[in-house]
Amino acid sequence: MANVTVIGAQWGDEGKGKIVDWLASRADAVVRFQGGHNAGHTLVVGDKTYKLSLLPSGIVTGTLSIVGNGVVLDPWHLKAEVEKLEGQGVTITPDNFAIADTCALILPIHRDLDALRETAAGKGKIGTTGRGIGPAYEDKVGRRAIRVCDLAHLDDLDAQLDRLCAHHDALRAGFDQPPVNRRALLDELREIAPFVLQFAQPVWKRLHQVRKDGAKILFEGAQGVLLDIDHGTYPFVTSSNTVSGTAAVGSGLGPGATGYVLGIVKAYTTRVGSGPFPTELEDEIGQRLGERGHEFGTVTGRKRRVGWFDAVLVRQTCAVSGVTGIALTKIDVLDGLEEVRICTGYRLRGRDLDYLPAHSADQQAVEPVYETLEGWSGSTAGARSFADLPANAVKYIQRVQELIETPVALVSTSPEREDTILMRDPFMD
Ligand code: IMP
Repeated sequence: MANVTVIGAQWGDEGKGKIVDWLASRADAVVRFQGGHNAGHTLVVGDKTYKLSLLPSGIVTGTLSIVGNGVVLDPWHLKAEVEKLEGQGVTITPDNFAIADTCALILPIHRDLDALRETAAGKGKIGTTGRGIGPAYEDKVGRRAIRVCDLAHLDDLDAQLDRLCAHHDALRAGFDQPPVNRRALLDELREIAPFVLQFAQPVWKRLHQVRKDGAKILFEGAQGVLLDIDHGTYPFVTSSNTVSGTAAVGSGLGPGATGYVLGIVKAYTTRVGSGPFPTELEDEIGQRLGERGHEFGTVTGRKRRVGWFDAVLVRQTCAVSGVTGIALTKIDVLDGLEEVRICTGYRLRGRDLDYLPAHSADQQAVEPVYETLEGWSGSTAGARSFADLPANAVKYIQRVQELIETPVALVSTSPEREDTILMRDPFMD
């Protein structure tokens, strides 16, 4: 049976939650493999709305949900999110939820550092979610992180804490902050440890068993390829790899495990935080799309920047992430526009470009070249087959497909799970 890896093919917030939820209901396990609680997935199931930041979306349907080793985990946030969902009637036990014992922890000192740096950076700030993601990954790569398995060894942590505190104390001094309160940190960890440890295990082993049993695994990416630390709009990116290949590394399975790569693509473009955005609209149309699309961050509540669909970017993200097919979301937000535009290329200092250049200054300087298509007056909202769509909406989808050189596997026409037009079932590919 095929596995499916879902990734965002723009700057995140493409509407992954709904697609993942829809696929999760048919998967045997759902795995998060990168990022942390900087992600924001909104699931609408019947009359209930669930907001997830860290937990895999499968948790809502009771599907085995796994936080892989590639995730950075804030234990206090984990507890709060579990309790919030339990309050909404979701059951979360070690039977249906597991956390890799090798996950690096996000600590209060990481949150502090994230905030201190962003405040100090002024205009040059990244616009992070302020959740300590970057500093936690830095400590992981710097080999001084506290990991989930350390929670069972808190009395033997001196050497690791020496290294961690030496690093952070120096940084904190530069911001006029007192040294790390080691005792308070250990006390906090001691208090939260039993909660986390009940779910901790070698998830690579559990996943290998799941695979051996022939079960279907859904890998749930967070953020989007343009926020990838290698392939994104560096330095305005997150601190993990968001491309599909990370599903293998971040869960402890080989590269063959990723299966069908489904790229989630919004019918227009949004981004939160700072950084280049070639097709950004700062006019009435942008305002209208933002309002109709409810473009406010799930995690931070920040207003998202909005722009026309950029086929150059999506062609590139599909290529670097090996996308098999895309799910096109929020097409209904374009309903009622007289004309719609698609960016098909860039001009950079008199040259034509068919890709996004690597340097931030060039990314900022590119001028989008647009193709204009006729809009549609009818509604696409809630459509469940191509026949329900206005002819110009179909033309738009076909043009997107051509330009990004990747097939459209499904189209989502509202936040409701069932309002989906399916061309090709990723699990059956
Ligand atoms: P960080 O991941 O908090 O370090 O933030 C780095 C950049 O990634 C900022 O521009 C954030 O707005 C962006 N970002 C992080 N998570 C998400 C997400 O789930 N959706 C959209 N943008 C995100």
